[in-house]
Amino acid sequence: MSRRPASSSVRNFSTTPRRFEAGRISQRTPRINVTSRILRHSRQLSSTPAPRHGHLDPPKPGEERTITFIDKDAQHHTFTVSDGDNLLDIAQANDLEMEGACGGSCACSTCHVIVEDEGLYDKMEEPDDDENDMLDLAFGLTETSRLGCQVKMSKELDGLKVRLPNMTRNLQASDFK
Ligand code: FES
Repeated sequence: MSRRPASSSVRNFSTTPRRFEAGRISQRTPRINVTSRILRHSRQLSSTPAPRHGHLDPPKPGEERTITFIDKDAQHHTFTVSDGDNLLDIAQANDLEMEGACGGSCACSTCHVIVEDEGLYDKMEEPDDDENDMLDLAFGLTETSRLGCQVKMSKELDGLKVRLPNMTRNLQASDFK
């Protein structure tokens, strides 16, 4: 039995790209401006400056407030700050050991401070539910504990003294199970 001749459509089928057939077009890689393609398809880079953690503006004359942090070694660190500055920003701007793991969004307790003066503690706004929830998870909780990121300096709090606890707790997902 003779072999069936291939049909013309099959005979003409070729996987060779047309540009390589019969030496019509050279097999050189087509010239593509790769750089311009990448640039065309890549995202624009933003020129927005990165947020500066712990940056504070100096207080206006006559509106200086004083705060003292007492560190784990009982060293006192006193600073002159402005109304509205929160304790986390003040501590970080002055290289004190306050982690502020959540960046001040009331989602950790690594900015825990203990207010030394009960009178000044009573002048602060009450902690809200979120702050109380986080404080419940803080090590060494006291009657005058606060989260530093939630306490803003004001005229009423001038002369505030806070103690940094010996330990803070960086929460894990398992803490919420
Ligand atoms: S920095 Fe996380 S609660 Fe203050």
